[in-house]
Amino acid sequence: MTRKFHLAFIFDFAADEWRGPFGTGGSPWDGAFHTGVAQALERACFDFVIVEDKLMVPESYGGSREAALTQAMIVPKHDPVPLAVAMGLATSHLGIVTTLSTLAYPPFMTARLASTMDSMLGGRYGWNIVTSAEDLAAQNFGMDKLPPRDVRYAMADEYVEVVKQLFASWDKDAVVLDRDKGVYADHTKVRPINFKGEYFQVRGPLNTVPSPQHRPAFVQAGASPAGRDFAARNADSIIAIANGPESMKAFRDDIHDRARRLGRDPAGIRVLFCVTPTLGDTEEDARQKQARTVSSPQFIRDILAQMSALTEIDFAQFDVDKPLPYKLETNGEQGTLDKFQQWGTDKTLRELVMDGAGGLVSSVELVGTPDQVADRMGEVMDEVGGDGFILTTPLLRMNRRYVAEVTDGLVPALQRRGLTRSAYTPGATLRENLLEF
Ligand SMILES: Cc1cc2nc3c(=O)[nH]c(=O)nc-3n(C[C@H](O)[C@H](O)[C@H](O)COP(=O)(O)O)c2cc1C
Repeated sequence: MTRKFHLAFIFDFAADEWRGPFGTGGSPWDGAFHTGVAQALERACFDFVIVEDKLMVPESYGGSREAALTQAMIVPKHDPVPLAVAMGLATSHLGIVTTLSTLAYPPFMTARLASTMDSMLGGRYGWNIVTSAEDLAAQNFGMDKLPPRDVRYAMADEYVEVVKQLFASWDKDAVVLDRDKGVYADHTKVRPINFKGEYFQVRGPLNTVPSPQHRPAFVQAGASPAGRDFAARNADSIIAIANGPESMKAFRDDIHDRARRLGRDPAGIRVLFCVTPTLGDTEEDARQKQARTVSSPQFIRDILAQMSALTEIDFAQFDVDKPLPYKLETNGEQGTLDKFQQWGTDKTLRELVMDGAGGLVSSVELVGTPDQVADRMGEVMDEVGGDGFILTTPLLRMNRRYVAEVTDGLVPALQRRGLTRSAYTPGATLRENLLEF
């Protein structure tokens, strides 16, 4: 008997599928489109939505900003936090997770923002912890270059420790609100943290009340060994890309091993795998739809421009009809690059992009009718052992039709099989929803 699994969704505050017949191009940039999507996800009982983020205008592909700007690739990208407020206030149960980079935000500001959001959203806020992966981003924050990955994660470890201490700088019951005695907060339950580390120095205490989760949920997507340790140590939910059920299982088992080694019970972690389902009225219809996407003239350029932005490697330099000439390395998103380059196969770059059609970010191919895809998702979860999927599209580009196919076609098929949530527990926090099954 298959255990229930979790569903999440990831998008960015960017133009939607602006070239297609069902897109709006993000315009106007008032957040209404994404807020409507959040409401649809809540109707389908998703656990949470993540707003992805990047902090630069890419110029790696062809050594120019041209591709990024003409294709609306990674840019424009608006700030996720105001969008999260709009989505949060328009929903009641859906977890709302925003990406905040440890390279960009001082830890005190992250703790304060996360605590404020968690209070405003009644315990539904989560922080997607990223370390940033681009020199171009680092250069917006007083650095010449991105620190090496291990240093980024060492900084992030210390950063998360500061943030956790700041949340704990107010005891859960510090606010007494005793009108008779004229006491708002018990000052003996609020104290400085006097943190002095290698990278951060923070006095504290935090200046916000303890939020419903006290420590808002943490989400992370580390793929490198250092990243996986970081995620296993800190995350309530880990988002991952893998190559098929076997590699998904290996990833989840590895996270569990790392958690145990670090003294943490893996039962508190939910590993969710990225998938980009293509749905149709019939299997044939879905296959044709996928083939149309891949054969569209812009697709290869879009995918390569995106890979260039994420890895800061210029993919315009390679012949698309030959295999990559050598194994590519980046100080940026190596895990994403490894999934893409499939080193060891002799596929041409064009074929690698075609594979990406199931999604640059698809852990397993899901193409068919809602019933077929729901069955496949159940089988895969049986094989992997848990804990669920994070849905998106190959280039994070959405349109309302795609969202409707997922929330009104796929999810009802999953719910009919008892595979995913059909109702929320009233008042449950994001962490409680994640731990419910
Ligand atoms: C589903 C998913 C979403 C991600 N979202 C972001 C993001 O919003 N911003 C960002 O800078 N990095 C993002 N990343 C990159 C990760 O934070 C991480 O850098 C990447 O998975 C590579 O892992 P590594 O840093 O351990 O090599 C994402 C990765 C995945 C798989």
